[in-house]
Amino acid sequence: MIVVVYVMIGLTNSAFAQGSAINTRIEFKNKGEIVRILDLEEFTAIASERFLKIYEPHEKRMRTYQVYSARSLFDHVFGKNWREAEEIVFLCADGYQPSIPVAKFLAYDAYFAFASADDSPFMLENVLQNNGTVELGPLYLVWDNLKSTELREEGAVDMPYQIKEVELASFSDRFPALFPPANASQQVQQGFLHFRKYCIACHTINGQGGGKAPELNYPLSVTEYIKPEYLKRWIDDPSSIRYNATMLPLAAEIPAREKVIEELIAYLKAISTVKHLPTTIP
Ligand code: HEC
Repeated sequence: MIVVVYVMIGLTNSAFAQGSAINTRIEFKNKGEIVRILDLEEFTAIASERFLKIYEPHEKRMRTYQVYSARSLFDHVFGKNWREAEEIVFLCADGYQPSIPVAKFLAYDAYFAFASADDSPFMLENVLQNNGTVELGPLYLVWDNLKSTELREEGAVDMPYQIKEVELASFSDRFPALFPPANASQQVQQGFLHFRKYCIACHTINGQGGGKAPELNYPLSVTEYIKPEYLKRWIDDPSSIRYNATMLPLAAEIPAREKVIEELIAYLKAISTVKHLPTTIP
């Protein structure tokens, strides 16, 4: 019932009327093939809804949402075998495209939020990204992070909103152009893992990754046109370089943050030696 009411509010919303971000149909894919297309209204029939209170990192406060369990939804749409997949890629209306390891969905409880707990609009104030108010619908991925310090330390990286597509994928099949040279150092390999976790949702490397932010490697790498000390400072605090930067600083709570930034830069340097035309990956 509640879902229907929300969708009707959505229809009268001006952003919706202009045909912008919000569409209520979600596509589910397995390695590029469409498995199922569901309208938000159909979710109530296949997953049970509940309230979930979380620490909302985008707003730095507690918030309660109406949610469906991600695991039971995946069971229903993909069958139990989704657990054997490697990653789940979420494509969002604003170009954000995080790729989240399946292991994380098995270790922690994830939920798809579809409305606020009260009658307030399903939106948030994205203070992290100087983005102003953003629509969260049709679906917003949240985690039961009150039970877990590790989840809270990660900030908002794995919390995509405006989800329009959910895809089971193998990272190396989906993003081959991101891999550093096979003989790369341990530091570079670590940096690659951090890049996958903290950066690829917004940025592309050699044309692959999220469409919310600029390409970082092709034809010129950021390590070639940004002085090393400023690259470091950019990752640490973009607003200290550019007024109103919409990139968020690497989450302040990340353990060994200095080292993580150095490893990220080592990866960016290594990948600058492997440039491909975005469309012609060898
Ligand atoms: C939420 C999206 C988002 C994430 C996540 C993100 N960025 Fe950005 N980044 C942006 C946007 C948007 C810009 C464009 C400049 C701005 O912020 O106004 C940008 C700009 C940059 C630039 C400057 C490029 C130029 O030519 O000016 C660098 C370097 C960069 N990002 C590196 C990173 C790294 C490294 C990470 C991971 C630690 C990262 N970004 C994570 C959104 C993001």
